[in-house]
Amino acid sequence: MSNMGSYDERLKNFTWSIAAEELGYKDGEVVNIGWYCSDRICDLGKAEKTALYYEGFGGAQRSYTFNDIRLISNTIGTFLRNIGLVNEDRVCLFMDRIPELYFSFLGVLKIGAIVQPLFSAFGDESLFIRLENAQTRAIITQKKHLSKVRKIKDRLPYLEFIIIVDQLKETELEGKEIVFRFENAEPVDKMAIYPTKAESPSVLHYTSGTTGQPKGVKHVHLSLVSQYLTTKWVLDLRDDDIYWCTADPGWVTGTSYGIIGPWCMGITQCVLDSGFSAQSWYQFIEKNKITVWYSAPTAIRSLMKAGDEIIRNFNLSSLRHLASVGEPLNSEAVIWAEKNFGKPFHDTFWQTETGSIMITNFPGMKVKPGSMGKPFPGIIAAVLEQKTFEPIDEPGKIGLIAFRPGWPSMMRTYWNNQEKYNEKFVNGWYLTGDKATIDNEGYFWFIGRDDDVINTGGHLVSPFEVESALLEHAAVGESAVVSKPDEINMEVVKAFISLKPGYVPNKELELEIMNFIRKKLSSFAMPQEVEFVEKLPKTRSGKIMRRVLHAQEWGEEIGDISTLEND
Ligand code: WT7
Repeated sequence: MSNMGSYDERLKNFTWSIAAEELGYKDGEVVNIGWYCSDRICDLGKAEKTALYYEGFGGAQRSYTFNDIRLISNTIGTFLRNIGLVNEDRVCLFMDRIPELYFSFLGVLKIGAIVQPLFSAFGDESLFIRLENAQTRAIITQKKHLSKVRKIKDRLPYLEFIIIVDQLKETELEGKEIVFRFENAEPVDKMAIYPTKAESPSVLHYTSGTTGQPKGVKHVHLSLVSQYLTTKWVLDLRDDDIYWCTADPGWVTGTSYGIIGPWCMGITQCVLDSGFSAQSWYQFIEKNKITVWYSAPTAIRSLMKAGDEIIRNFNLSSLRHLASVGEPLNSEAVIWAEKNFGKPFHDTFWQTETGSIMITNFPGMKVKPGSMGKPFPGIIAAVLEQKTFEPIDEPGKIGLIAFRPGWPSMMRTYWNNQEKYNEKFVNGWYLTGDKATIDNEGYFWFIGRDDDVINTGGHLVSPFEVESALLEHAAVGESAVVSKPDEINMEVVKAFISLKPGYVPNKELELEIMNFIRKKLSSFAMPQEVEFVEKLPKTRSGKIMRRVLHAQEWGEEIGDISTLEND
């Protein structure tokens, strides 16, 4: 029997107060995610239970109890408060998946400040744009990433503190830099946790859109209610589970379900921060006796590619429940898992903006391979007709995936961009920007995105951001960035470039341009292919028609090109 029990029964009697009651939270009272994920778990008698088991590069291993994470997050919180940080200040976490990242996340929340987690693979320009937009006041980082921060810090007048978690000598430090070694600091047993309320801001995640700058998705402490209940009912976590979420906390899966979800339930979780290989992943599952595993289609496809033979070298019988998020989960992957692990991957659909799982194949419910499943109780979901924005009743007809706003973990705005936020709503529906169909049993089937955003291996890439980076190179006249098909990542980035007069397309120039943008973008946003063209397809009004290039790459019909300029 799953934690949720019968889906249909849950639908009938659902209110979000089920979660609030279990969390002991009452409307209008204080709710602080940092406290819920550590102090409360200790109060419930689990102080000595393992909260985090970490394994890093070169075999580094560390393990922490809930009391450890309570103490260490108190220590960092108190340190941040003592240097002058206050509630609602933005504090960026720019670290690999090391334990310090996890503790800092809770520590920042405990002082009521806003956590801004950023993927440590970001180049300095990607980092700069996001710190500038959020007017971030402090950044916590590692020595290995410090050079990127140093390069941009003088252009960031709001950035007052650069906190480094590794040892550095006083003489090696530049302005604004402070070393803080959590584990050497005097542990703080008691701290006054900032009394955040339901609507107090908590986490600020950046996500890519089609045009313009990346958008800062603002979440609030009430999101806990959604994250708690979805973790319980969808990931089906129980007290004796050993849970592994493979996502990095630079992305929302890594915070909602890689920190908040498991820890607010007092669950032991494992973190592996040593890159990907089928061998090391299976070994990690076997060694730690992982029971619940939340991963992503790209990783699953890579495991499939490594072959079934290797699986027999490991004992993976501890696995009890598997889930996936981030991109379409092919039916082959679901069936492959059934064959090799004896259970299917359960697809989950949601977004940075939704803060928690929206549509899913629930444990205990029939899984339809290739389908995303059904809406979480309390979520009113529909596919809308693309012109009228009215819900479509007819099964199998394609429409826009939309939700009625009002669930606890819905984003509250895009940071400093209320206008973009407002654009996401039509007729009282929140538009996800994705398309799907619904079948006659109410299962949702993903069709594709409704915009130009590229989803490469679960990472959203804005064509605009890549084009902007390219345009900064002296030789690049114009560029258009689209996706092209790829076996493992489903989509990868391809750039079309027309050169300025006087430049000749050749391999050296291509390499030079690639090296130039590599410093600005993160690895996944890098074009996997460059094609130099004489000119780009444009409308008569001069807009680049990415659609034409996209169709060409995917071998699709080009469609209406009546607006294409021709001379
Ligand atoms: C976009 C959101 C929220 C977790 C990580 C991604 C795509 C997400 C699925 C799925 C097909 C999916 C959508 C969505 N996506 N889950 N199960 N099947 N597509 O968060 O970076 O905000 O991306 O990822 O296009 O809009 P994100």
